[in-house]
Amino acid sequence: MIEIFSPAELERAKVSGVFVATVLRTLRERVAVGTNLLDIDRWTGEMIAAAGARSCYVDYAPSFGRGPFGHFICTSVNDAVLHGLPHDYALKNGDLLTLDFAASVQGIVADSAISFVVGESSNPSDAAMIDATQRALEAGIAAATPGASIGDISYAIGTVLAAAGYPVNTDFGGHGVGSTMHQDPHIPNMGRPGRGYKLRTGLLLAIEPWVMADTASLATDADGWTLRSATGARTAHSEHTIAVTDDGPVILTR
Ligand code: MF3
Ligand code: CO
Repeated sequence: MIEIFSPAELERAKVSGVFVATVLRTLRERVAVGTNLLDIDRWTGEMIAAAGARSCYVDYAPSFGRGPFGHFICTSVNDAVLHGLPHDYALKNGDLLTLDFAASVQGIVADSAISFVVGESSNPSDAAMIDATQRALEAGIAAATPGASIGDISYAIGTVLAAAGYPVNTDFGGHGVGSTMHQDPHIPNMGRPGRGYKLRTGLLLAIEPWVMADTASLATDADGWTLRSATGARTAHSEHTIAVTDDGPVILTR
């Protein structure tokens, strides 16, 4: 399903975006060496409850996972890149952490992800990899104008990632958002200009480039959820929810 939102609804979507962005910023400031992934999950649940928001994750049971997710946020560490299931692990200095969080406020979802190094980075290639996903995200967002196509976004993202030297996986990518988290259209992280669904004012999109340092192949963890690089290589992910408008793309989760 593809949902198109009215200007009044887009104003409400901004509230969702600010909430999701605030949670991620708060977590980023609070996370330190020694923080347990289960603490991050608990803090997220507390912020959802305090805001009267709704989790998109707790009861979510898509075909690509095992049963309901059962947690409030995805916490992916080092070689884990997507859908990291929070578990009893205390973060170490130099760990590369991705937080991916979506929630619904007044019935509209926003979805965003950040990657950062915990403590002091010992690994310059981590910063380069995070930077590449952020630049790919900016390029993808810039392509999201009315009349452009999904392929234009995919091409913009894929061009940046490939130029930075990263293989691109197209099994998981961006997506429409709205009254639920995952909606059509799907937005692969590489593709051909001019192909696919034509963007319209009022569309909400989650755009999310992610990479693994030396591979495009994923392996599923024994937990049934966490997706890791097949080679054990480190990974990064950047995601924003945007609105397509006549004035250009508006980033809701900034
Ligand atoms: N928010 C993620 C995305 O960017 C999806 C998480 S699905 C979950 O699309 F089941 F792992 F929560
Ligand atoms: Co998403």
